[in-house]
Amino acid sequence: MSILVNEAQRIFHLQNEYISYVMMVLPNGQLGQLYFGRKIHHRDNFDYLLEGSLRSHSALVPGVDRLFSLEHVKQEYPSYGNGDFRQGAVEILQGNGSRISHLVYEGYEIQAGKPSLPGLPATYVEDPSEAETLSVFLRDPLTQVVVTMLYTIYRDRSVLTRSVKIANQGEASVQVERAMSLCLDLPDADYEWMQFSGSWSRERFPVLRKLEIGIQAIESLRGHSSHQQNPFIILKRPSADEFSGEVMGFSLVYSGNFLAMAQVDTYDVTRVLMGIHPERFSWKLETGESFQTPEVVIGFSENGLNGLSQTFHDLYRKRLARGVWRDQARPILINNWEATYFDFNEEKLLKIASKAKSCGVELFVLDDGWFGARRMDNAGLGDWVPSLDLLPEGIRGLSEKVEALGMKFGLWIEPEMVNPDSDLYRAHPDWALHVPGRDSSLSRNQLVLDFSRPEVVDYIHGMIAKVIRESKISYIKWDMNRSITDCFNESLPADRQGEVFHRYILGVYDLYERLIREFPHILFESCAGGGARFDAGMLYYAPQAWTSDDTDAMERLKIQYGTSYGYPIVSMGSHVSAVPNHQVNRITPLKTRAEVAYFGTYGYELDLNKLTEEEQEEVRCYTQFMKDHRELIQFGTFYRLQSPFEKNEAAWMVVSEDRKEALVGSYRQLAKVNIGFSRLYLQGLDPDQLYEVDGQDRYYGDELMNAGLITSDASSCKVGEDVKPAYDFASRIYRIKAVD
Ligand code: GLA
Repeated sequence: MSILVNEAQRIFHLQNEYISYVMMVLPNGQLGQLYFGRKIHHRDNFDYLLEGSLRSHSALVPGVDRLFSLEHVKQEYPSYGNGDFRQGAVEILQGNGSRISHLVYEGYEIQAGKPSLPGLPATYVEDPSEAETLSVFLRDPLTQVVVTMLYTIYRDRSVLTRSVKIANQGEASVQVERAMSLCLDLPDADYEWMQFSGSWSRERFPVLRKLEIGIQAIESLRGHSSHQQNPFIILKRPSADEFSGEVMGFSLVYSGNFLAMAQVDTYDVTRVLMGIHPERFSWKLETGESFQTPEVVIGFSENGLNGLSQTFHDLYRKRLARGVWRDQARPILINNWEATYFDFNEEKLLKIASKAKSCGVELFVLDDGWFGARRMDNAGLGDWVPSLDLLPEGIRGLSEKVEALGMKFGLWIEPEMVNPDSDLYRAHPDWALHVPGRDSSLSRNQLVLDFSRPEVVDYIHGMIAKVIRESKISYIKWDMNRSITDCFNESLPADRQGEVFHRYILGVYDLYERLIREFPHILFESCAGGGARFDAGMLYYAPQAWTSDDTDAMERLKIQYGTSYGYPIVSMGSHVSAVPNHQVNRITPLKTRAEVAYFGTYGYELDLNKLTEEEQEEVRCYTQFMKDHRELIQFGTFYRLQSPFEKNEAAWMVVSEDRKEALVGSYRQLAKVNIGFSRLYLQGLDPDQLYEVDGQDRYYGDELMNAGLITSDASSCKVGEDVKPAYDFASRIYRIKAVD
């Protein structure tokens, strides 16, 4: 890894074994982009990559060669208004009403390692030798606004991270109206764009389309990253597939409003922009103040989509997630939500917990409904005091009883919300986000607390920390069950209202940070009505997230498959739930439910007492299977093999780091009759290693990867010597083990 600088030509080359990123100071002083992609040789001068052309009607730059126009030149941090007509990366409103900036190169600095971003989540290093960071300083001579462009290149990863700091060193205040984290101009438009879209209970379904001239974008203006869109996009060459070809991914380490866009101009330059959504955003900078944008991680792979995903998985697992749980296999839990909803008392909970314990489950999680007047979703949110009528000895007593059973105890909270019918709201109605004089919109009977106000965050912290301190809590599920409306902070002046959405998220991050510091042993799982805040920002605080409220195995196949493009398996909360399924009413085999949920953190979301003895015995086997394989699943290399979006059959696999062990999950959505033969071409094995499949047949790695694993027999389920006919929603796990 190195950052090579040609000071005379003012060229920067960030390079490691995998990638090169080249920039130069342009003839007008702005910072230009020359190359990003597969590693190339270093040379002293890359200025040949600065293409110019004399074009009729182009806006020219005073005093610069007529071949040079901001209209077509590739830039690092452009602003609209002085020759570039594309979408800009930065816009700063000045006292006289102008929004035009001219950011001129001033200098640079290189440091070992990677600085943290104050108050924001970001990838990190554990040792300065893991990465190198380049800061490039740009100044607008008229306003004295200084922009610091931060670029970090990791030594052993095919990624580069970027973020931007904007500081006001002028004498007058300015208003930052747009501050994207990333602008990347690519020299052609021969890409397909992938986004991960959905809605409640069908999050992150991949959507693919060819880039065309014009703008294609995804966004969230919901105050959280959202069910609808995810702050992660991929650009792939049309010929690239899961296993080969060039792809790049852009992941925003942020949980609030965002915009991700690709604009293809008439000269085939593709501009990728990503960052906080400029709509409903502005940030006032008084003299001496600065604003830090969130970070974007750019990943690059020549090994197709799986290669790219693996790059993100490894980085997010090891250098985004933090804390004691980062490297530990996750506990197998049981959550009472779908078992009881709001209808529980201590006795009922302990009965669920004891049965779970007898089935090998390690952690009992009490979900919504344990506090204040919360008997339904219309009251009590905000009153984080245990309801003694349900739990006579409070959370303390219940947690002790669960521990006495030999299990750990976990608790659900939704700290950002308040029901109008709550003591908190009655005492502090102004603490909910609202516009004075207007009615606020309710969603799920609740309002959003104004986390942009530190006193609100302090108060909620006090209540929640008290419950945690008093009880034996090992796990917290932090929920967030509605989008933000009526976004207005009564304590801020008019010209700071554009700050509220971002300040809100900073408040959320602040509360997370305080809780994880005070209670470092607790495993946090984030949640937002299922997967509405499944983003890289959250993974910095909570190493796992509830993937979706849809717990049906067939739906989960798609949701987990789609989520795996950007996020590691170990971050996906996945549970076995009851049938008929509560979301889609489907009846799937218990075995299939388990075999889908294995590829995540694994747990249960039902009352095991309601299963037959035989089913409970099955559950014991599944729990044991997960215990035996969770290190491999959660910390191995994950491959998508066959997409449930494309075929009736779906498959994925994990391979251990030393390639001695692998697990393949193979699924069939609907039974078919008299079908063709089927094989799975495995990935990631050692071609010269002899492996045993399910402790029986032996094949070399190259056979399993090239000739394939025959899966035709999966269409019938062998029970002893009997062969059952094919059935819907079938699954099979193959265990692959190296033979010494
Ligand atoms: C959200 C979560 C669920 C559950 C409920 C409780 O919908 O996604 O898992 O916790 O809230 O109200």
